[in-house]
Amino acid sequence: MTIDPRGADAPVPVPTELSTARLRLRPWRADDAEQLQPVLEANQAHLGPWIPARVADPATVPRLATRLAGFADDFATARAWRYAIVSRSDARVLGEVSLFPRSAEARVPLASADRAEIGYWLRADATRQGLATEAVRAVLDVAAAVATFTRAEIRCDARNAASSAIPRRLGFMLEATQAAAGVRATDESVALEVWVLELERPGEGLTSCA
Ligand SMILES: CC(C)(COP(=O)(O)OP(=O)(O)OC[C@H]1O[C@@H](n2cnc3c(N)ncnc32)[C@H](O)[C@@H]1OP(=O)(O)O)[C@@H](O)C(=O)NCCC(=O)NCCS
Repeated sequence: MTIDPRGADAPVPVPTELSTARLRLRPWRADDAEQLQPVLEANQAHLGPWIPARVADPATVPRLATRLAGFADDFATARAWRYAIVSRSDARVLGEVSLFPRSAEARVPLASADRAEIGYWLRADATRQGLATEAVRAVLDVAAAVATFTRAEIRCDARNAASSAIPRRLGFMLEATQAAAGVRATDESVALEVWVLELERPGEGLTSCA
């Protein structure tokens, strides 16, 4: 699969369904709100320090439905591809893995992007089973298929050891640690790690045997 964002079919049709051994990844839907609401309520302390309030803060089911409809719209218009992580065995919503088109400086519209930033969260009772690593591996394949993306980045607070273990496990290099705003308005400046993986496309690096 190769996805060309400069093609006539833009916005980019990335897959709306990805399967891994244990997971199904698909865009959020407004009707996930009922299932997600108690998850966010129960995971405030787990997610709050690391995930922006606009994503992790609990809300009423109708407000959450509006938030998720916004995520679905972002997905369809290629602003941000947020996949709900769903268990294949029991259909429970376990978290999210996302791809954000970006430049060296910021998240940008796809047409100006040369890389993908990857984000993720899992509900606390789904951690320590390798599920986030499995989900990130799947979206890396999607990023590699976008013709204009040369690299993937994971940006995480240096204090977030569980998060930085994921790029380390997947072969990313720690390119820089830089001062940045934390996810909460009240956060002091934090040390943000920038993990990078050069994307390889099928066939790249092969030499002819003829
Ligand atoms: C970051 C976060 C997703 C990491 O979750 P996680 O469960 O540690 O990550 P994984 O799902 O990849 O699981 C890794 C763990 O499973 C274990 N594991 C078991 N089977 C595994 C497999 N097949 N592959 C990889 N790891 C496996 C690993 O050894 C590791 O365990 P350890 O923590 O005891 O070393 C989770 O802590 C979280 O949601 N945090 C809050 C939100 C957040 O910080 N998001 C990132 C913002 S930058």
